[in-house]
Amino acid sequence: MPPPPPAYAETMTAPPPHSETPRLEALRLETLAGPALAAALPAALADLARLRGAVFAEWPYLYDGDAAYEAGYLARFAASPGAALVVAYDGARPVGMATCQPLAEAHAPVVQAFRRRGLDPAGVCYCGESVLLPEYRGRGAGVGFFAAREAHARALGLTAAAFCAVVRNVNDPRRPAGYLPLDAFWRKRGYRPRPDISCVFSWRELGDDRETPHSLGFWLKDPL
Ligand SMILES: CC(C)(COP(=O)(O)OP(=O)(O)OC[C@H]1O[C@@H](n2cnc3c(N)ncnc32)[C@H](O)[C@@H]1OP(=O)(O)O)[C@@H](O)C(=O)NCCC(=O)NCCS
Repeated sequence: MPPPPPAYAETMTAPPPHSETPRLEALRLETLAGPALAAALPAALADLARLRGAVFAEWPYLYDGDAAYEAGYLARFAASPGAALVVAYDGARPVGMATCQPLAEAHAPVVQAFRRRGLDPAGVCYCGESVLLPEYRGRGAGVGFFAAREAHARALGLTAAAFCAVVRNVNDPRRPAGYLPLDAFWRKRGYRPRPDISCVFSWRELGDDRETPHSLGFWLKDPL
């Protein structure tokens, strides 16, 4: 029997920022799960939906978001019994967020991506997204998001973690000059690319008049 999903609202401080970045105050991270997540979500929904929309509008997602869709997405996510939401705050203002849930409770195409390769989704934590407003990057929140989600995964008895990222052509003319892919950051957290596991999500890119399909590749950390 897996342990019951933990219920908590836990606060931590993001790890110290990267040594090459100027000394900046670490952001406060709060992990919400179970009834604490259900209780906090209604008041936070609009802010979190806006945050996701703002960050995913950037390269490499170029997502033309819709606040109503975002709010529905977050409400469905929070209904997953094993879900955890990590929010980064500057004072009382949410400036970043990350999500995770047992893979078996995730969006069907994500589960199918594993099943298609003969992989059992049980035991895997799916990290849905991490988004942080650009002006708060380099202060340790990204590392803190992974640490908090992996702690939640272990509390659920999960033994591996995975996420997916959009696959872009490096020669895409929309790629901003000087854009640093996150691959090195993810590798340092212990994740490895699994190009054999992939799925397709459709969304409308900025400037388009309709949704188009986008390929996402998975990264896996096993064991946690
Ligand atoms: C992913 C994200 C949350 C990381 O946030 P962050 O708070 O800047 O990361 P941290 O300050 O914790 O940085 C951690 C480490 O990664 C490094 N790092 C940060 N961004 C990096 C990048 N683009 N490429 C390589 N390394 C990077 C930092 O220098 C630091 O290095 P260290 O481990 O050697 O100390 C942030 O970049 C973001 O919101 N990106 C846009 C959304 C996105 O693409 N999300 C991922 C898919 S959902």
